[in-house]
Amino acid sequence: MTKSVCVLGATGTVGREYLRLLSHHPFFKIKCVTGRTSVGKKLIEALSDGYEVQDLPKEVLELEVQPTDVKKVDADLVFSPLPNEIALKTEEEFAKAGFKVITDASPHRMDSDVPLIIPEVNPEQLSLIESQKKRWSGFIVATPNCTAVGIAMTLKPLESFGVKSVVATTMQAVSGAGYPGVPSLDIIDNIIPFIQNEEEKVATETNKILGRMSDPIKFSVTTTRVPVLNGHTASLYVELEKPFEIEEIVRSLENFRGRPQELNLPTAPKRPIIVHKEVTRPQPRLDRDEGSVPGMSVCVGRVRRGAHPNSVQYVEVSNNTVRGGAGGAVLTAELLVEEGFV
Ligand SMILES: NC(=O)c1ccc[n+]([C@@H]2O[C@H](COP(=O)([O-])OP(=O)(O)OC[C@H]3O[C@@H](n4cnc5c(N)ncnc54)[C@H](OP(=O)(O)O)[C@@H]3O)[C@@H](O)[C@H]2O)c1
Repeated sequence: MTKSVCVLGATGTVGREYLRLLSHHPFFKIKCVTGRTSVGKKLIEALSDGYEVQDLPKEVLELEVQPTDVKKVDADLVFSPLPNEIALKTEEEFAKAGFKVITDASPHRMDSDVPLIIPEVNPEQLSLIESQKKRWSGFIVATPNCTAVGIAMTLKPLESFGVKSVVATTMQAVSGAGYPGVPSLDIIDNIIPFIQNEEEKVATETNKILGRMSDPIKFSVTTTRVPVLNGHTASLYVELEKPFEIEEIVRSLENFRGRPQELNLPTAPKRPIIVHKEVTRPQPRLDRDEGSVPGMSVCVGRVRRGAHPNSVQYVEVSNNTVRGGAGGAVLTAELLVEEGFV
């Protein structure tokens, strides 16, 4: 049966990806949308700043943006791409009012009873939902930081060799900072070598996702902002416990599949990780929309041995607004429906 959904902050960078992904979805129907400055406008008007609206059906474009208030929302499932500053309180109000919330924001990600989900990597964490009954009648499920997503997805298959430590440098797209984001005079012709709180999030969230909180992978992370519109790139050096052949690493990345592929979920890419052999790949412009569901596959290349005998290096590109944002959350929602949580 179709589930009705509400998108909080539907006019934002990630919110717009939700509108695209949910408009023709076999499980979900958009019933309401909320915002702040656009409240009272129809979506067609609120999105008229250059966004391509032709793919959105008329009934979605005609929706009026509501205040982000529990009393104004009625839906089986709520997606929350709200700014971090307001997500903490607002999402708790929704969970207390009995709503089932999937959030892209960071405040609840590290709560011990909140699943932090990449559907292919750790679907078993959904069982944490049960323990939220002590706090509220609804629930909150979180999707990870957009940079942690590509890193955690590619480390998961390497866990069969035992991941000891990771040195990672990221080159993150401007869309990752939302709208209006980084001032153009700061980022054009430039690289900014620091993103507030991002390095800590990559380390702690990846350990939570991979179930390594008690025996953490040691991370040394540098996050940078680069003049790319969409698609986060990361260069990784990974030290493993066990010896390996490079071909084994490539095979484990290429053969990686999870519960969404088993269940054939609508937003599940056939290949969650695509490995390129050409030395000039992956590139954000070429690879951010690769795969059977555009934007949902993580692209890997430059797989090679590092300086330590048990170390491997590679580069990965993942689409921050799709796999690292709305797409990852919609896939999580599909899993919640199939597993009987919604
Ligand atoms: N950008 C990414 O690649 C990415 C990836 C993963 C996760 N995230 C996370 O997703 C969330 C949204 O990011 P974004 O990049 O989409 O941000 P954004 O482009 O700045 O959009 C923010 C949205 O929230 C609404 N909003 C702002 N203040 C509000 C308030 N006080 N009450 C209610 N609604 C409010 C805005 O509505 P109006 O337009 O009506 O003002 C807009 O729809 C953040 O928590 C971010 O960390 C972002």
